[in-house]
Amino acid sequence: MKNTYITTAIPYVNGNPHLGHAMDYLLADVLRRYMMFQGKAVRLQAGTDEHGNKIFKKAAELNTPIQEFVDQNSQKFQDFIHSLDVEYTDFVRTTDADHERRCQAIWEKLSDHIYKDKYEGWYCEGCEGFVTDKEYADNNGECPDHKKPYIKLSEENYYLRIADFKDRIREAIESDEMKITPAFRKKEFLNLLKDMPDVSISRPKEQVEWGVQVPGDDSQVMYVWIDALSNYITVLGYPEKDISDSWPANTQIVGKDILRFHAGIWPAMLMGLDLPLPKNLLAHGFITVNGEKMSKSIGNVIAPDEILEKHGVIPFRYYFLRHASTTEDADFTWEKYEASYNELANDLGNLVQRLATLAKKNEIAGIKAEQKDAPEFDSRMDKYEFNFAFDILWSEIQNLNKRIDEEKPWALAKTDPKKAKAVLAELIQELVNTNLRLAIFLPDTAAKIANIFGAKQITPPATPLFPKA
Ligand code: MSP
Repeated sequence: MKNTYITTAIPYVNGNPHLGHAMDYLLADVLRRYMMFQGKAVRLQAGTDEHGNKIFKKAAELNTPIQEFVDQNSQKFQDFIHSLDVEYTDFVRTTDADHERRCQAIWEKLSDHIYKDKYEGWYCEGCEGFVTDKEYADNNGECPDHKKPYIKLSEENYYLRIADFKDRIREAIESDEMKITPAFRKKEFLNLLKDMPDVSISRPKEQVEWGVQVPGDDSQVMYVWIDALSNYITVLGYPEKDISDSWPANTQIVGKDILRFHAGIWPAMLMGLDLPLPKNLLAHGFITVNGEKMSKSIGNVIAPDEILEKHGVIPFRYYFLRHASTTEDADFTWEKYEASYNELANDLGNLVQRLATLAKKNEIAGIKAEQKDAPEFDSRMDKYEFNFAFDILWSEIQNLNKRIDEEKPWALAKTDPKKAKAVLAELIQELVNTNLRLAIFLPDTAAKIANIFGAKQITPPATPLFPKA
């Protein structure tokens, strides 16, 4: 069977994982679980982006040997991903020898489209991105995401001739051969593409020493984005292995700030390699604090551990998957977080407790879930509107609470015990059916619910699913 391949952006390891990094993983995990639910074989990649000056300087600042520094931080990201209940099948580090060797092979394959020239212009070290004069002027010389002045570069570099591919990239995006979601970002990018220049793809070693060596030129290392973008295929074994069982990717998940690298440079590289383009690019928004991007460079990060420690991972997933839009920015405040926790406890926690208690009293035996079609849910999921798909499940949960209130099975039990049993069985049946899809978002809770209501004799859990704080 062919794999359905999902990818996540690989974060820079210049610091600890922060809350903003969670979005890539949560969305990828939801998509993975959804596709597995549909019976697909899914491959999910994750990894760490470990080269470039930003990281090199940070290690020096901390007086830590660079390799040790990236080893430690890469491990922190792996732990972080696990702490979110996210499971990947493949992990790549850009300092892996396999990755570096494959990157060099990719470079050599692209050589017909590479030339040497002088780069005179601007650069943002936070983005590790070259900046056009127009962007420089539009942003008054300062990166809006990193709040740092652009730096001036004047150096001899290798370039990738984007001009060779530009028309085909435009066609692929316009025709949705490589579909960009959301649509407004597709439009935004098509505008950018018009003036997209050839891109510099190397840096002189005197400027950047921490990078993959350019084949055949000792004085240059690869531009970190060339090295980083390659990860999506080097992790599959390209070019040594035939990757057609997993490539093209079904969905590549990225933050909105790095869509331009994935929609511009990456397809050019793939075309140069004669590889098909990914089917979908999904760009999510930012997690913001007071409306501003949470970022290490800005210094407003909230440690995800702080939030995870509060109520565990499930309320974390609930908040960021239901109350954060899949494609828009989402603000985090503790106040909203607590309100979201209470909602989880009141709606789902209560429902489980009530139904299980009534089931025990009325001696209802375990009920098996039935997999039913859910076209509205599927349609939301297929459009990457995960939060709206989650809303559908939530209204089913709220609706069950309402029906308990209305049908009062505890009163019925006194007058018509048979009817009470039938009503309860029906409500439980619906809950366990909904629970099959709830597992896509809240896997651990869904497993508990399946255990409670699948048991020979239903009994309420000793402690509520979401205890009062
Ligand atoms: N190393 C590059 C990605 C290379 S992919 C071939 C990079 N790293 S990053 O650490 O800056 O960002 C990693 C991912 O986290 C990106 O998808 C980025 O958009 C996302 N986020 C970083 N901060 C974010 C928020 N505050 N909110 C949501 N996601 C943001 O870019």
